[in-house]
Amino acid sequence: MLEVKGITKKFGELQALNNVSFEVGKGECLGIIGPNGAGKTTLFSIISGFLKPDKGDVRFRGTSVVGKKPSCLAKMGLVRTFQLIKVFKNMSVGENLLVANSNNLDFEKEILKLVDLWDKRDTIANNLSQGELRRLSIGMALATNPKVLLLDEPFSGLSVKEAERLSEIIKQLESDGITQIIIEHKLKELFGITDRVLVLNFGEVIFKGYAEDAIKDKKVIEAYFGKKYVTG
Ligand SMILES: Nc1ncnc2c1ncn2[C@@H]1O[C@H](COP(=O)(O)OP(=O)(O)OP(=O)(O)O)[C@@H](O)[C@H]1O
Ligand SMILES: [Mg+2]
Repeated sequence: MLEVKGITKKFGELQALNNVSFEVGKGECLGIIGPNGAGKTTLFSIISGFLKPDKGDVRFRGTSVVGKKPSCLAKMGLVRTFQLIKVFKNMSVGENLLVANSNNLDFEKEILKLVDLWDKRDTIANNLSQGELRRLSIGMALATNPKVLLLDEPFSGLSVKEAERLSEIIKQLESDGITQIIIEHKLKELFGITDRVLVLNFGEVIFKGYAEDAIKDKKVIEAYFGKKYVTG
C-alpha cells in the first residue's frame, strides 16, 4: 500500500532524515516512535506531500507520489493529521466536516458517529475538549475517505478515558481495512493498538519489528535513555 524508499532530508546542516525505508501493507497499522527531534513529523510531511525529500521515493499503491501536492494525495486517499490539531475553531463540528469534504455529505452522520461526535455536531469547535478536538481532526481526515491515514501523536493531551475511546476508534478503522501509520510517544497506548513499530533516532531507522522486541533492543534503549542504561 505504501512504500518508503531511501528518504533523505536536510534542513541546512541538520540531517533530519537519512535513508529511511519501510513498507506498510493494506490494512496494517504501523507505529513510529523515537525521541524528540528524531524526524518523525518530517517523515509524515514528506509522505503526505507537505515537504519534498532531497532523495528517495514514496510509492502509494505502486505509484511514485513524490512532488504531488497534499490536496492531490488526499484525493488519492493518502491523508495526515497534525501534531498540533488544525480545525476551524469558530465553526461547529458539522461545519468543520463539511469544509474537509463537502462532497461527502452522505457520510457525515456515519463519520461523526464513528468518532463519537454526532451528539456534538452543532457545538462550536472552540468549546470541545482536547479529546473531542482530536477526534474531530480524525473525522475530518476520514471525510476524505482515506486508504492510508497518518496520525501524528493522536494521544497527546488526552485524558485516560479519552485515550481509551480513541484506541477503540483506531481499532475500528483497522478492522474497516484502513491502513494507518501512527507517530506516538505514549507507548502504552500505541502498543495497545499495534504490535509493529519503526524506531527513528537522529533521522535514521534504528529498529523495525515487533514492539515487544523494540523495548529490549540495545540501540532503542540507548536512544531513549543513554548508553549507561544498556546492559548485557
Ligand atoms: N521546517 C524545518 N526547518 C528546519 N528544521 C526543521 C524543520 N522541521 C523540523 N526541523 C528539525 O528537524 C528535526 C526533526 O524534527 P521533527 O519535527 O521531524 O521531529 P519529531 O521526531 O517529530 O519530534 P517530536 O517528537 O518532538 O515531535 C528537528 O531537529 C527539528 O528541529
Ligand atoms: Mg513530531
